[in-house]
Amino acid sequence: MCGIVGYVGPRRAREIVVDGLRRLEYRGYDSGGLAVVDDGRIEYAKKEGKLANLQSVLDAQTPSESGTGIGHTRWATHGAPNDVNAHPHLSADGRVAVVHNGIIENFATLRAELEAEGVEFASETDSEIAAHLLAREINRGSGLVSGLRAVCNRLEGAFTLVAIEAGDAGRVVAARRNSPLVVGVGDGENFVASDVAAFIEHTREAIELGQDQIVEITADEVYVTDFEGNPADYRTFHVDWDLSAAQKDGYDWFMRKEIFEQPEAVANTLLGRFTEKGDLTLDEVRIPPEDLRRVNKIVIVACGTSFYAGLVAKYAIEHWTRVPCEVEIASEFRYRDPIIDPMTLVVTISQSGETADTLMAIRHAREQHAKVIAICNTNGATIPRESDAVIYTHAGPEIGVASTKGFLTQVMACYLLGLYLAQVRGMKYGDEIRAMMGELERMPGLIQQVLDDSQPVLDLAAQLKNRRSVLFLGRHVGYPVALEGALKLKELAYIHAEGFAAGELKHGPIALIEPGLPVFVVVPPRGRDQLHEKVVSNIQEIRARGAKTIVLAEEGDDVAERYADSFISLPPVSTLFQPLVATVALQLFACELATQMGHDVDQPRNLAKSVTVE
Ligand code: F6R
Repeated sequence: MCGIVGYVGPRRAREIVVDGLRRLEYRGYDSGGLAVVDDGRIEYAKKEGKLANLQSVLDAQTPSESGTGIGHTRWATHGAPNDVNAHPHLSADGRVAVVHNGIIENFATLRAELEAEGVEFASETDSEIAAHLLAREINRGSGLVSGLRAVCNRLEGAFTLVAIEAGDAGRVVAARRNSPLVVGVGDGENFVASDVAAFIEHTREAIELGQDQIVEITADEVYVTDFEGNPADYRTFHVDWDLSAAQKDGYDWFMRKEIFEQPEAVANTLLGRFTEKGDLTLDEVRIPPEDLRRVNKIVIVACGTSFYAGLVAKYAIEHWTRVPCEVEIASEFRYRDPIIDPMTLVVTISQSGETADTLMAIRHAREQHAKVIAICNTNGATIPRESDAVIYTHAGPEIGVASTKGFLTQVMACYLLGLYLAQVRGMKYGDEIRAMMGELERMPGLIQQVLDDSQPVLDLAAQLKNRRSVLFLGRHVGYPVALEGALKLKELAYIHAEGFAAGELKHGPIALIEPGLPVFVVVPPRGRDQLHEKVVSNIQEIRARGAKTIVLAEEGDDVAERYADSFISLPPVSTLFQPLVATVALQLFACELATQMGHDVDQPRNLAKSVTVE
């Protein structure tokens, strides 16, 4: 939530910063702003709305040549999304400018303290206090870094802060606690940002900052300390994403491009997992096998779409390992008193690796000595860093705010984890693992088949664009698919959409069925699955009440097709793996429907890509 960029180097900071913000706009798009140090003064511009609005303001100005600048794209928490609340925030004397991501929880106390000293606030944000506190420190004789350190030690909550000072051209300082910050190390220029996407055009060498660290960058130096001022350790890494991954490549939306990247993303998640000897290896899982054999309960914790990936995982993991597996929403888990102990394996799933509730859930679990494995797409993010082990999904950057390839690769990583646990615990042996891995390796081709045959889904979206409500039904792993289909539609098309377990239909939801209501039904594969006929009965029940039935079923399933007003055919796969193909059709439907309705598919209203606040 909120994107932050800082730059020091020989080039015009304002252009580098705005370009970086453009790549971070998925993190928030309520307003944008930047500030540069120019001739002993801070020059700034900020504007409500998307970055295009800020760009218009900048186009009307004489460009500053300054090589020191910071910028921000906002997802509003405190204060309405308007020009005044946009970042950067300046101190009253204009000496410092600060951008902030996160929530400063003790801001009311600090604001009262500053107001008692006569400081006048311009905005309603919690962030502005950081600018006033920093200016106060500097006016008392601190330098920019020691001043920021003193400020950080007064703040409670989550923050990434980036600051510049009018009298200190050539230096940007940044600090982080519970909120993302990476450094880009260039040749004679350096960067700080919420995400590597902001600077991969300029450098692929990056530094991952630890918790409670401050970094000071000049054109030639990067210096990292902790909040006490001691030199601090950090990890360097090379970003191997292709730059084209962060560009649209001719697609109308990043989301559509990311849907079409799924065969490759899923194949990448599988890469290198299977040894020549026929064993499944998860190199990143450095939890000793004897610890994994002792596990007597698995708890999966995640939010939103990642939570639905966890629901799919439960079916596979319990089936293969016979270990009880619970799945819980992170924001619920962290505030109750879950029964976990050193024999519990907690699995967290997060595309961004920065979701605040999931991160807090990890800390909660580790305090109780549970082992934590993260499934994550973002190298260097906080969630993998704070976990005992991580399985990276290798989907590449996901820019569209609604998760697509993030979800599919999470589901794939969950299958891998389930099979790995089954192998380690002696529940599955060579041939069985080999057969299942063989089927998983065919999945990229089958996902491609769904994409190639997607015209009926697109036509359906055109037909249904003015409906007020759409329902989704599924059973077993089809149930989380139904939930995910409904979530995508809510997020993108802003229409009422609900997913239900098909077996629950007669316990209430059937009352919603009325003539013409579109109902998607995910049908388990025929013949191999006892639930097939149950779900087909559900289709008959809703059709009898006038619903428009849109049936997703295996190709050639003429029993299900008989009751379908529209039939979406899926390639034949085992029941457990069906989410990998069925979800793709629902993603495409939501993307196309929202496009037909004229919505911004990549940046739906009110949403942000990584929810780094509660
Ligand atoms: C929906 C979506 C969200 C995220 C959720 C968790 O399309 O993307 O529901 O899945 O905010 O995010 P991560 O996976 O980054 O923890």
